[in-house]
Amino acid sequence: MPSDFCLLLRQARILLPSGKFLLGDVQTCGRKISQVGPQISTSVDMEIDATGLTLLPGVIDPQVHFREPGLEHKEDLFTASCACAKGGVTSFLEMPNTRPLTITQEALDDKLQRAASKCLVNYGFFIGATPANLPDLRDAKPTCGIKIFMGSAHGDLLVDHEAVLEPIFAQGKRLIAVHAEDQARINQRRLEFAGITDPAIHSQIQDSQAALNATKLALKLSKKYQRRLHILHLSTAEEADLLRQDKPSWVTAEVTPQHLLLNSSAYEQMGTLAQMNPPLRALHDNQVLWQALLDGVIDFIATDHAPHTLAEKGKVYPNTPSGMPGVETSLPLMLTQAMQGRCSIAQVSNWMSTAPAKAYSIPKKGAIAPGYDADLVLVDLENYRPVLREEVLSKCGWNPFEGWKLTGWPVMTIVGGQIVYERGQLHTEVRGEALSFGDGEIGR
Ligand code: DOR
Repeated sequence: MPSDFCLLLRQARILLPSGKFLLGDVQTCGRKISQVGPQISTSVDMEIDATGLTLLPGVIDPQVHFREPGLEHKEDLFTASCACAKGGVTSFLEMPNTRPLTITQEALDDKLQRAASKCLVNYGFFIGATPANLPDLRDAKPTCGIKIFMGSAHGDLLVDHEAVLEPIFAQGKRLIAVHAEDQARINQRRLEFAGITDPAIHSQIQDSQAALNATKLALKLSKKYQRRLHILHLSTAEEADLLRQDKPSWVTAEVTPQHLLLNSSAYEQMGTLAQMNPPLRALHDNQVLWQALLDGVIDFIATDHAPHTLAEKGKVYPNTPSGMPGVETSLPLMLTQAMQGRCSIAQVSNWMSTAPAKAYSIPKKGAIAPGYDADLVLVDLENYRPVLREEVLSKCGWNPFEGWKLTGWPVMTIVGGQIVYERGQLHTEVRGEALSFGDGEIGR
């Protein structure tokens, strides 16, 4: 498509930045939204009749594991970005536990180059903290932030001692995102529960206390240095309660759809497919996390898309990897919740687009307004369709919500003014762009 290509979406139900809906038209020219109004009369290259459909800002998924380089048998940047396009995810922030680890400028540059050549949607990458890469953490760019695995990581990416964490919090300003689990407690409980092969034990080994301990430590260090902190995939009622009482303005937190919608009862049906880190918890945790999200204690939603093959998941616990895919179903999952009255469509869009854009200081994304990037998703809120394994685009070939009947499926996804997905068809020639990030000092 030429760079001055103009598109007109006609008579959509448009979600405006105010949270209200407008029945009207949106025009995009090149990569930007140029006009929004009740009826736009102008000549364009292509008109799309969006009658009966709802137009939302494209989803920004701020925590995914796309496996390239090094683990491409599970997923790669092309297959993952196809799955994003289908799921209405127009931008993603990807984690550093690839091979090699993304812990240097060189590894970051390599990922950016790979993404530029094969990603259908926009992309940004975290740099991973190790006990020994402080200069890289300070200087590498462009990056959305520093990822610290306080637990649940192997090898160099594990940074689990306060004495090693402290200088990372003390030096520099950029956002630190933590996977908060207490590795020492997990190690000790692995010994206590050794020999048990029922995957349900996973939630007891990596228990709520392990998550709470690490979240407390991250908060303590963030407060000591007033360091911008983001707590990834909050999973427990206890952490939500802690943040409700004590959440500095420079701290944000996220939750995954699976920690809202699934709990440890899922092991019975799903076995190791329900195994993830931090683990699924109890129904009570689902409820408290929902309330924290509704109340703004939790700021936004991420999928933690972490695909593993069915063969890997088919081993016997604890030899099974943790993680589940998410980008294809996160938006319909949450929109279905909205349609069932649990929250509003505007809240879903805020949690899945506007708020992550703000938290990571991504300019001109997360709203449908003139001058904003033309990253859009047109969804159908009227039809329910089940999640089917045979329709999964992620290379792992399965989804934790198979069989769930969802509405709000994307009908069309637009990235930078280009149609990348349309009624089941991908336009695989479309390429996203590298995201840019502000100084990450939001809320200070
Ligand atoms: O369950 C998980 N799997 N949680 C993580 O944080 C990492 C991920 C993975 O990379 O497989």
